[in-house]
Amino acid sequence: MRAPSSPLLFALALACAVGGLHLSRVDATTSAVQATGTYVIAHRGASAYAPEHTAAAYSLAIQQGADYVEPDIALTRDGVFVSSHDGSLDRTSDVKERFPDRFTEVKTGDRVQRRWLVEDFTLAEIKSLDAGSWFDPKFKGEKMMTLQETIDLVKGKAGLFPELKVPGRLRAKGFDPEQTVADILRKNGLVGAMVKGRPAVHMQVFEEDSVRRLAKLLPEVPRSFLLSAAPGTARWLTPEGLAEVKTFATGIAPAYQIIDRDPDVVVRAHAAGLTVVPYTFILRPATTPSYPDAPPAVRQQLEAQLQSLPTTREALTAQMRKFVEVYKVDGMFTDYPDLFPR
Ligand code: G3P
Ligand code: CA
Repeated sequence: MRAPSSPLLFALALACAVGGLHLSRVDATTSAVQATGTYVIAHRGASAYAPEHTAAAYSLAIQQGADYVEPDIALTRDGVFVSSHDGSLDRTSDVKERFPDRFTEVKTGDRVQRRWLVEDFTLAEIKSLDAGSWFDPKFKGEKMMTLQETIDLVKGKAGLFPELKVPGRLRAKGFDPEQTVADILRKNGLVGAMVKGRPAVHMQVFEEDSVRRLAKLLPEVPRSFLLSAAPGTARWLTPEGLAEVKTFATGIAPAYQIIDRDPDVVVRAHAAGLTVVPYTFILRPATTPSYPDAPPAVRQQLEAQLQSLPTTREALTAQMRKFVEVYKVDGMFTDYPDLFPR
C-alpha cells in the first residue's frame, strides 16, 4: 500500500486495508474515498439459489457479499418500476393461470407469441402474483419487487446496478422510463452517494438512445452500455467505436464471450477511459433449455454457448478469476456471488 499524502487519508487507507479493502484515490466530484478491485454484481440477485428479482434473491446476494445487486426494471401500467428481466410476466410468475386472457400477441421473427407484458398490468395485479413457485415450491408466495422496495432492501448494504428494460417500447407507449428512474434515484438520495467505497448506483442499458438520455438526466451516475455477442455490436469495439461510446457512457458491459475472443477489448476500452463489466458468469444448467422461440441460427449459437459453460463450482470460480487477474475487468455479473474469487 502506497502511503497517502495526508494523515486523514492514511488513516482511512489503513482502516480499509485492515478490513480487506483497497483504496485508490479521493474522487474529485464526491470527495469520497473510492475502492479499487473488481466488483461483483449479483445478477438478478443471487439468482442461482432463489427466484430471480425477489426479496429472497436480493437478501441472499447481500449475505453472500455482493458489491452490487442488479434489478432489471420495467414499468407497470400505472407507471411504477418493478423488477422483471423479460418485460413480461409469463416465465417467472403464475400470471397465465391468474389472468389467462390478458396476453398481447408479440411477433418474434416468423412466430407470434403470447406475452403477458408488465406494462399491461397494474402494480396491484402484479403484486397479487406468485413469483416464487416457478423456481421451487419452497419459494411459493414470493412477490415481484418494486424498485422502491429494492432500494429499501439494498440501500446502505450494497450498491444498485439497475438495467432499464425495453425503454424504446415503453417510450413508444407514452412512458418516460429515463425520467422516471432519474426521479426515483434522486428522491432516494442515491445520486452521488457511495456505498462500500463505490458509487451507490450504476445504470446499464442495451439501447444506445436510452444511455444517451441517461447521460443528460443523470450525468453524475455511472452508466454502462450493454453489448451482446451479436455481430452488430463489433462496430463499438474498435478504438473509434469506443471513443464514441465514451461520449455518452462511462463504461461497456459486454457479453463475456466477446472478451474471451478478444481480450484486448479491455485494454482498448480502458485506454478510451471506459470501465468494462462483462456478463454473465454461470454454471451450465442441469437441464438444457430448448429455446423453442429462437430462429435456428440463434438456437445453434445459444446451444453452443451452453456447452461452453463451466460445469463445476471450482471451474466457475477459476473462470471468474481469469477475468479478474488476466483480463483485468472492473466488475462482473454472476448468478453465484458466493463463488466470486475474493
Ligand atoms: O445486464 C447484464 C446482463 O444481465 C444482461 O443480460 O439478459 O441477463 O439482462 P440479461
Ligand atoms: Ca440485466
